[in-house]
Amino acid sequence: MSIDHDNHVHTDPDDISSNTSGNRPFREVLAARAGRRDIVRGGTVIAAAAFLGAAAGTLGADAPASAGGNGHGQGHGHGKPDRPSRRGLLGFDPVLPNTDDAITVPAGYTADVLIPWGTPLRSRGPAWRADATNTAAEQAEQVGSHHDGMHFFPLGRGPLGSRRGLLVLNHEYIDRTLLYPDGDAEMTREKVDKALAGHGVSVVEVELSRGRWRNVDSRFNRRVTGTTPVAFSGPVSGRHPALRSNNSPMGTLNNCSHGATPWGTYVACEENWNGYFGTEDPQWSPTPEQARYGVNAAGFGYRWHLADPRFDVARNPNELNRFGWLVEIDPMNPRSTPVKRTALGRFKHEGATFWESRGRVVVYSGDDQDGDYLYKFVGDGSWRMQRALGRSPLDHGTLYVARFDDDGKGVWLPLKHGKGPLTRANGWQDQADVLLRTREAADAVGATPLDRPEWVAVNPKNNDVYLTLTNGTGWPGEVNPRTPNPYGHIIRWRERGCDNTATTFEWDVFVLAGDPAYDPQVQLDETNIFGSPDGIWFDGDGRLWIQTDVSNSTQNRADRGHDNIGNNAMLAADPRTGEIRRFLVGPRGAEITGVVTTPDQRTMFINVQHPGESTTYWGTPTPENPRAVSNWPDFDPAGRPRSSTVVIRKADGGVIGT
Ligand code: FEO
Ligand code: CA
Ligand code: CA
Ligand code: CA
Repeated sequence: MSIDHDNHVHTDPDDISSNTSGNRPFREVLAARAGRRDIVRGGTVIAAAAFLGAAAGTLGADAPASAGGNGHGQGHGHGKPDRPSRRGLLGFDPVLPNTDDAITVPAGYTADVLIPWGTPLRSRGPAWRADATNTAAEQAEQVGSHHDGMHFFPLGRGPLGSRRGLLVLNHEYIDRTLLYPDGDAEMTREKVDKALAGHGVSVVEVELSRGRWRNVDSRFNRRVTGTTPVAFSGPVSGRHPALRSNNSPMGTLNNCSHGATPWGTYVACEENWNGYFGTEDPQWSPTPEQARYGVNAAGFGYRWHLADPRFDVARNPNELNRFGWLVEIDPMNPRSTPVKRTALGRFKHEGATFWESRGRVVVYSGDDQDGDYLYKFVGDGSWRMQRALGRSPLDHGTLYVARFDDDGKGVWLPLKHGKGPLTRANGWQDQADVLLRTREAADAVGATPLDRPEWVAVNPKNNDVYLTLTNGTGWPGEVNPRTPNPYGHIIRWRERGCDNTATTFEWDVFVLAGDPAYDPQVQLDETNIFGSPDGIWFDGDGRLWIQTDVSNSTQNRADRGHDNIGNNAMLAADPRTGEIRRFLVGPRGAEITGVVTTPDQRTMFINVQHPGESTTYWGTPTPENPRAVSNWPDFDPAGRPRSSTVVIRKADGGVIGT
């Protein structure tokens, strides 16, 4: 995200580290491992054998996955897609960088807008008002703002399931200039309520009708917002004293990326929740735990606490403890209560990538802040057995945090009360305490700080795991190979025995992002230069889709080395060959995020988030001129830019990417 704190362009709040743990593993080893930099420089795909030596195999090769794939994770297609040609997975002509206020896709492809912000969930619902005069109550019956992570749940089997389904998507935040007709110089309870209604999750039934996708009236259509009643489950139960606040448990906020469980539910992730809270109380100062999560008196400048005491950290401090979790939602049951699954830890969850190995559920989740960590949850025993016993597979398991060693190996460190430093003698009361203070627990066990870990994707062909490190100051350790790291990179690892429940792994750098005109070690050209990888996803063929989120304080700027890269984009990679091609370029001021296909892979849905947001390069929207940066997608001369889902199809009806 790149939050517009006070109508000026800002650095992402995630760019500011709150990690003061001093975890600087292997700083001294760095100098001794000069060779690794050569490997990073060696090309988009690292010659893995050069440093993996006698490792389990060459990363990226389609070695048979001994632990077995699962057919359930986010990356799986269930249809019968065209088999990719032997020449490689990428069959389209690359799109060149541009700065157009438009979506650009390769020749032979179409891109159509679906469910922009403000679309009524029902045909008789409140219509979108282009002047932002929709009320809070109306916003709660419309698609939210700032579309982000997204999954497609087929309705029907076989080919039918690729023509009809539920799109479930997150709404990460709102734009305080664009959400209200008069901006937010004056903060009112109605404005807080409208913002809360613009956040959360939408469930929207969509169907392919006469060659076009459209949203339809459906009993499944639903909004989850910042005020929807929620429940808590796992070691931090709803009865835990730390969760007692002045209001009933409600809402989910800053839902960035997402997950899809093997049992058919959706998981929304709470990322930069700290920024909504603040106080005017001069006596208040954050506890060490609050400071570690970036909580401060000013927040990100939303000032909701002025109109709603729920967000006043001095008056209602435990409300904070209700955020930073993964939230499970059953899209097939519109009356179901979203459940915050506390066993998976409390931090700034970017996403939750589900996989299955040896019958157990595995969930990868990055904590997206400069110098924070990568986590993995492994369920106890078979998830099917847990469900047969009436238990959630997400309530019973072990949370680990990653240590990336400079020799290309890595270890998953358990965050388990009583283990290692997480003892009573060291002030850790119980497992609930460990989970409420996940970041500090991870500090204590010696996790490796990373350059802003964002999405994780698992290759369905070989169980290799990929992680975007979007950008950062360049933390010590070879896993963060560039200091500073303005463009980010993508790493990958293979868990021991290709078993994603394993506690050790071997890693390498898949690609260093950037522009060789500014950084000669970058091995990319005009067909594939990019910055700040964020969204990442494997389709069923093993094609890796990469989406970018260069911040609006940097995007398009020559003085930041981003003038050749163009607007934020989506690229596709063949992990076997390392080939990368740009597939799509987005409109001005936007990031590209959220990606999923129908099971037959002949329709792809992506999201365009925050078009027209304040940028250093294009300018700053105002209530009088909300179109200063972009007017995508409506180009209504009296309207405003709107986050939106985009439907990508191939004119010949083929598989996306071929
Ligand atoms: Fe919400 Fe880390 O992007
Ligand atoms: Ca974002
Ligand atoms: Ca991002
Ligand atoms: Ca993101």
